[in-house]
Amino acid sequence: MTDEKQHIGSLFDRIAPTYDGLNHGLSLNIDRLWRRKTVALMPPAEHVLDVAIGTADLTIAMLRAGKAQRVTGIDLSREMMRIGEEKLTHKQSAAQTSTPGAKPVNFVYANAQSMPFDDASFDGVTCAFGCRNFSDLDAGLREMYRVLRPGGQVTILEFSYPSNKLIRWGYDLYFSHVLPLVGRLVSHDKTAYTYLNKSVKSFCWGEDFLRHLTQAGFQDARFETLTFGIATIYIAKK
Ligand SMILES: C[S@@+](CC[C@H](N)C(=O)[O-])C[C@H]1O[C@@H](n2cnc3c(N)ncnc32)[C@H](O)[C@@H]1O
Repeated sequence: MTDEKQHIGSLFDRIAPTYDGLNHGLSLNIDRLWRRKTVALMPPAEHVLDVAIGTADLTIAMLRAGKAQRVTGIDLSREMMRIGEEKLTHKQSAAQTSTPGAKPVNFVYANAQSMPFDDASFDGVTCAFGCRNFSDLDAGLREMYRVLRPGGQVTILEFSYPSNKLIRWGYDLYFSHVLPLVGRLVSHDKTAYTYLNKSVKSFCWGEDFLRHLTQAGFQDARFETLTFGIATIYIAKK
């Protein structure tokens, strides 16, 4: 295992127990609305790959909305996926498939930058708040393109940097001070939420992100901003 895989995996393993609570609490549940909007922009698909599935919130939302019959989720944190699997067993409505006895979600420990799947294996690909953690964004997007079937859609939800100065001020305050402080107090982890802040601010968004999608081979790439541009949904086709 490489250092990078170990680093990301152990970072998210450490914050996994507090991840959902902090996400929903600190965003005042707006993150749920963002995921719902993301799912609304997905065409219905038989088998979807949820890259960086984490604790499975996006997967649960797409199963509930009937946008996927089956989901394969990959992640580098076994602990995040364990919590996701546990949530799915408690959320009966999300855990049902049309095939009795079949599990709708398959969790796989794998790196988004080199996926263990054949070309064109999935009808749709999604990724929520995962891309900014990749050490090589282009490698991750190329892999998403490779495993997607021709005509399929990639749908990505990610933080972005708002253009309004006042919102930027609040955003900087939140990510530089509030999130690291509350994150440290709640998760008892000194570094994890400082890393998350850095990864948000150094990441590309908007037109810049579309260029990366196009370079990876995707077509018709477009985006929709959410909540003053704090987050953005990117959509593209193979
Ligand atoms: C911020 S969480 C997002 C989880 C989930 N998608 C959500 O919406 O809440 C980011 C996740 O990306 C995973 N991750 C980061 N880099 C990865 C990589 N290269 N391959 C697979 N998963 C990765 C982390 O382990 C973590 O679970």
